[in-house]
Amino acid sequence: MIGFFRDENGLTCDGVSLDTLATSKGTPLYVYSAESIRQAYRSLDDAFGSHPHRIHYAMKANSSFALVRLLRECGSAMDANSIGEIDLALRAGVPPSDIVFTGVGKTAEELDRAVAVGVKAINAESSGELERIDRAAVARGTRARVALRVNPDIDSGTHPHISTGLHINKFGVPLEQARTIYRKMVTQPGLQPVGIHVHLGSQIVTLDPLQRAASTAVKLANELREVGIQIEYIDLGGGLGISYDGSRVPGPAEYAAAVLPLVATSDLAVVLEPGRVLVGSSGAVVTRVVDLKPGPGGRNFAIVDASMTELIRPALYGAFHRIEPVTCRDAKEVSYDVVGPVCESSDAFGQDRRFRMLEVGDALAILDAGAYGSAMGSTYNRRPLAAEVLVDKGVAKVIRRRQTLDDMLALEQ
Ligand SMILES: Cc1ncc(COP(=O)(O)O)c(C=O)c1O
Repeated sequence: MIGFFRDENGLTCDGVSLDTLATSKGTPLYVYSAESIRQAYRSLDDAFGSHPHRIHYAMKANSSFALVRLLRECGSAMDANSIGEIDLALRAGVPPSDIVFTGVGKTAEELDRAVAVGVKAINAESSGELERIDRAAVARGTRARVALRVNPDIDSGTHPHISTGLHINKFGVPLEQARTIYRKMVTQPGLQPVGIHVHLGSQIVTLDPLQRAASTAVKLANELREVGIQIEYIDLGGGLGISYDGSRVPGPAEYAAAVLPLVATSDLAVVLEPGRVLVGSSGAVVTRVVDLKPGPGGRNFAIVDASMTELIRPALYGAFHRIEPVTCRDAKEVSYDVVGPVCESSDAFGQDRRFRMLEVGDALAILDAGAYGSAMGSTYNRRPLAAEVLVDKGVAKVIRRRQTLDDMLALEQ
């Protein structure tokens, strides 16, 4: 078995006891399963089979260096959202031809650097941005490979804060404008249009919107071909969700089955930008109870040493995460509100969770925290960034040591 499961030592990651890790490495602690990340990558890659495709891991989901290198070893290309992520990918040995650069609001400096590096494509967000890319490329005597991000105005059904494909969202250009912009692109000497980019949002658990977005992109590619503009691929973005509560959600095979027939008839390759589905279920936050006290409605507060500074998703989107005691004692079940120590009432991980009675010092695991967890970490309240451990073939390696106050103060005068 791989990932997080229970054996006679309590909850484990790939068989390594989380209780032992909590004791030896301290808490709060991020723990990841290398094998479960490999398996997630393989299952998506296999799902697209022999159709020409390339998986560009969306580093924004988790850019811990060891995880980026691990996915690179699996064969993944990268989707970068900043120059920091481009440089990280390069340091992980990813060639520029395997990096796409996405992001609303890229600075002139970022665009120039992406042009200089010669990435596989800059996913452009507006005609103004295309003009800036054109100028940067001409100044450097080169042509920049670009894909226009099209906003198809499709409701992905996800949380409004992580929905990006509606016309009210700030992302991309309306479909109606796309043809005109592509026609202009071919006249701009610094631009080489190579793709069409769509990304509807994140944590999407119904296939219909993803299918409609793919269909929109294929249709646009066909229309462009009719006017002599031949692109190489459609970039379907990321967005495929995972199950946070144990309910069934469509997986990579169903996703591929939904979109492949739409592209199979064309000679278009497919680019994917998955983040969450590759790393989300492969990570957990291990935390210890620091205090217990009676709470509202007969529930109790279990105050833990992890907070919104390690995992902000519940505070930011009301996201649900399963929480499990690492070891269970033989005691009656009690209902808990699991909350963090930061002075914000939104610093809470779960309400009305039933566990066998907890004691101060008990370890809990907040599951499915591999994506948009550590990457969104902060040092609010001068809390150091948590340590991170990667478990691989029974060995737990610290891939990021816990930050110290000296680390923080090193940046300050
Ligand atoms: C442009 C783009 N591509 C890919 C992703 C990755 O999304 P996910 O982690 O849901 O697969 C995101 C995140 O929202 C994104 O904005």
